[in-house]
Amino acid sequence: MDIASCALLIVLTCAIVHALLGSFLAMATKANHKLPPGPSRVPIIGNLLELGEKPHKSLAKLAKIHGPIMSLKLGQITTVVVSSAQMAKEVLLTNDQFLSNRTIPQSVSVLNHEQYSLAFMPISPLWRELRKICNTQLFAHKSLDASQDVRRKIVQQLVSDIHQSSQIGEAVDIGTAAFKTTINLLSNTIFSMDLIHSTGKAEEFKDLVTNITKLVGTPNLADFFQVLKLVDPQGVKRRQSKNVKKVLDMFDDLVSQRLKQREEGKVHNDMLDAMLNISKDNKYMDKNMIEHLSHDIFVAGTDTTASTLEWAMTELVRNPDVMSKAKQELEQMISKGNNPIEEADIGKLPYLQAIIKETLRLHPPVPFLLPRKADKDVDIGGYTIPKDAQVLVNTWTICRDPTLWENPSVFSPDRFLGSDIDVKGRNFELAPFGAGRRICPGMLLANRMLLLMLGSLINSFDWKLEHGIEAQDMDIDDKFGITLQKAQPLRILPVPVKINN
Ligand code: HEM
Repeated sequence: MDIASCALLIVLTCAIVHALLGSFLAMATKANHKLPPGPSRVPIIGNLLELGEKPHKSLAKLAKIHGPIMSLKLGQITTVVVSSAQMAKEVLLTNDQFLSNRTIPQSVSVLNHEQYSLAFMPISPLWRELRKICNTQLFAHKSLDASQDVRRKIVQQLVSDIHQSSQIGEAVDIGTAAFKTTINLLSNTIFSMDLIHSTGKAEEFKDLVTNITKLVGTPNLADFFQVLKLVDPQGVKRRQSKNVKKVLDMFDDLVSQRLKQREEGKVHNDMLDAMLNISKDNKYMDKNMIEHLSHDIFVAGTDTTASTLEWAMTELVRNPDVMSKAKQELEQMISKGNNPIEEADIGKLPYLQAIIKETLRLHPPVPFLLPRKADKDVDIGGYTIPKDAQVLVNTWTICRDPTLWENPSVFSPDRFLGSDIDVKGRNFELAPFGAGRRICPGMLLANRMLLLMLGSLINSFDWKLEHGIEAQDMDIDDKFGITLQKAQPLRILPVPVKINN
C-alpha cells in the first residue's frame, strides 16, 4: 500500500469512527434526557388535533393531566408548554438566557421582515440596540410625558364621536372604536398624524393591520411541516407579503415626507423625529429599520390594546357594582363629565388601575405570550426542553390557577387593592406582557392608553345594553388568535352622564 492510500485509509477510518462516536454520544445524551410528559402522539401529525379551536383552553385541560410542564408534537415541531407561575419563572427569568429567541411563523418571514422585526429577530447586537432605544428613548416615561398632549386630543375625539352616537341613540361597537382610537393614539405618538379619519387610505390601513394580525394568528400547516414551507398550502405567505408590502410602502412615504420637512427645518419632536435623530449616528437605525419597527409597533400594539379595552368594558357592564365604584373614584378625582383625564392623573386612580390589571388577568390578550425557542437543551423541573423546541407559556391558565387566585373566574378588581402584584414582569402569576429580556417594550404606553380610554368612557357616559339584554345573558365567549378577542363584538348604548351642579 502506497503512502497516499495509507493516508486515505487512516482519514476514512477516523471519519467513520468520529461519525459513529458522534451518533452514539447523541443517543446516550438523548437517553439521559427526559422530555416533559404529554399526551400520546398520532403518527405524522402528532398532537395537532388536540389543539382544537381554543388551544389555550385545550392545553389548560391537558396540563391538568400531564402537569405544569408538558411536551407535545405539533406536526414536526416539538413544543413544550408551561402552565404554572413557577415554571413560567423558570422559562422567562431563570433560563431566559437560553430561551429568548423565537420560533418564526411563515406569516412573519415575508419580505425579510423577520430580519428587521423587533418582535421576532434573534437576540443580537441589533435587537439589543433597538430595545435600548425603546426603553431609554421611545417608550421611556419622559418621552411619553412629552407626547401626552396628542393622546389627550385623540381621546377627546373618541368621546365626541361617542357623544354623537348617544344623541341619535346609536349603540357603539366598542372593539371597533377602540381599534381606531388605538391606531390614532399610536400614529400621533409616532408620526404626529391620524392614520384613521384623515387620509383616503384610512380604512385600508385599519384593514391591513387587522389582516396582518389575523394571518399571524392563523394556524398554518407550513409552520408544522418543513416540507410545506415552499408550497404555502394556505396561501398565508402570499397574502401576508401583500399586506406587509402595503404597510411598509405607506411608512416609506411617511418617512420620505418627514425627511423633506426636516430639510426645510420643520421639527415635530415625535417618535419619528427621535428615530431619525438616532439614525444620524447609529448604524443600526436607518430608514428601512424605522419602517419595519413602525410596522411592529402598530401590529403588536393595536389589537392587544383594543381588545383589552373591549374586555374591560364588557366586564364593567356585567358587573355594575364595579362600574359604579370606578365612576365614584373618577368623580372624586377628576369630576364627572367631559373633563379630560390626564396621564398625570393615573396615579390618583388606583381602582381604575386595578380594573385594567383584573382585565389583563382574566383576558390576557396574548394567551401564550410570543413563542420562544430553546437555543440548547435546557433542564427545567427535572425535565429537558430539547434544543430547537418551541416553548409556550400558557399565561391564560396561570392567570386562572385556583392555587394562586381566589375565585379565579370572578372579575374582582378589589383583589388588587393593597396588593403589590403588578404586570411588570416581576410576578409570574400575572405576566400578560411577558417577562425577562423580551418583555413587551410598549407596556407603559399601553397602560397609559388603556387608562385614558377606559377612564374617559366611564366618566363621560353611562352604558346600557342593547334591546333590553340582561347583563347576566351577555356573551363572554372568546375567539383564539395571536390575541384573544371577544367572539361577539360588544355593542352598547352610551348615555351622557348627568352633571349635578
Ligand atoms: C395591552 C397591550 C399589550 C399587551 C398585553 C402586550 C403583550 C405583549 C407580549 C406578551 C409580548 C411578548 C413578551 C414575551 O415574549 O415575553 C409582547 C411583545 C412586544 N410588544 Fe407588546 N403588548 C401590548 C401592547 C404593546 C404596544 C402598545 C406596543 C408598542 C407600542 C407593543 C410592542 C411590542 C413589541 C415590539 C414586542 C416584541 C418585543 C421583543 O420581542 O423584544 N406592545 N407584547
